[in-house]
Amino acid sequence: STTEMEARVRAIKQQLGEELFIPGHHYQRDEVIQFADAAGDSLQLAQICASNTRAKHIVFCGVHFMAETADMLTKDDQIVYLPDMRAGCSMADMANIEQTESAWQQLQQLFGDTIVPLTYVNSTASIKAFVGRHGGACVTSSNAKTMVEWAFQQKSRLLFLPDQHLGRNTAFALGVPLEHMAVWDPIREKLEYDGELEDVQVILWKGHCSVHEGFNKWHIDDIRKNDPDMRVIVHPECSHDVIQAADDNGSTKYIIDTIESAPTGSRWAIGTEMNLVKRLITEHPDKHIISLNTNMCPCLTMNRIDLPHLLWALETIVEGGRGNVITVDADTTAQSIHALERMLQFAK
Ligand code: 13P
Ligand code: SF4
Repeated sequence: STTEMEARVRAIKQQLGEELFIPGHHYQRDEVIQFADAAGDSLQLAQICASNTRAKHIVFCGVHFMAETADMLTKDDQIVYLPDMRAGCSMADMANIEQTESAWQQLQQLFGDTIVPLTYVNSTASIKAFVGRHGGACVTSSNAKTMVEWAFQQKSRLLFLPDQHLGRNTAFALGVPLEHMAVWDPIREKLEYDGELEDVQVILWKGHCSVHEGFNKWHIDDIRKNDPDMRVIVHPECSHDVIQAADDNGSTKYIIDTIESAPTGSRWAIGTEMNLVKRLITEHPDKHIISLNTNMCPCLTMNRIDLPHLLWALETIVEGGRGNVITVDADTTAQSIHALERMLQFAK
């Protein structure tokens, strides 16, 4: 039963003490996040893992790329586990290394040595290594603006992988006009762009988050019509027209902080992952909060980590097994680490 499973998780946590560390992303289920030693967004969890040098076992409650990042940022004798290997991220899977190498070659032919690559931390370790090899950096939704500014100090153009929306929204907020942004389609191996090539400042990889693409401008138009006092806040993984129509946008941490500091009685429609929106609704009964799309589902891969999987991962540790260990090879780690360190350096 749930009560038995919860009791067992508690007992194992107590037994392992500081040897065990459970980071949990804010998009995790309540049944899992209640056991997290630290809850955070991607940047916070990367920072927390990088600074935890004590825990021998890190059971990462989040998705695959986050566990890979944790493995790269921790010491060799610290072991990172993902309770369910099927907890991937469809956005991270939209850029594989073969596609990226091929795109880079073609972009070099078009633009010469004028491009610096940036990758959203929501990407595989091999993409992070690619970016590190080419002098670029990782980015999270919390520090994307700073990192894009940094990129323009390095080169006149940037390639932003794999989320076109975060790339477009961030560059636009920094004053790059949409007409100076091109889109690289990795399936057709083609640059989508109408203007003069020399005007291109930002090349956006054609990837997206299927959760955040579920919010549309008409959802906001409906709210404006029916509830003009309601404020709309969305994650920058939403499309550009949604960001433009919303009152505010920002990372997971920014959204949480904004809701926490909002006045009693204020009304909010939130455009981000459903487990988090539901939690904010429960935690703030004094505010009227709804999802911007009430038909929205949680992120299905984040949701794969449930109580039985968490318990199973913990049991294998106690029994001395090595179930679902995430290891990134030494070469990939060495190449990625520069890109990750830049991200952490500009996050302070
Ligand atoms: P942040 O945690 O950086 O806000 O990213 C959101 C997300 O989609 C994580 O997968
Ligand atoms: Fe990936 Fe989107 Fe799920 Fe985050 S919310 S893990 S970006 S699919």
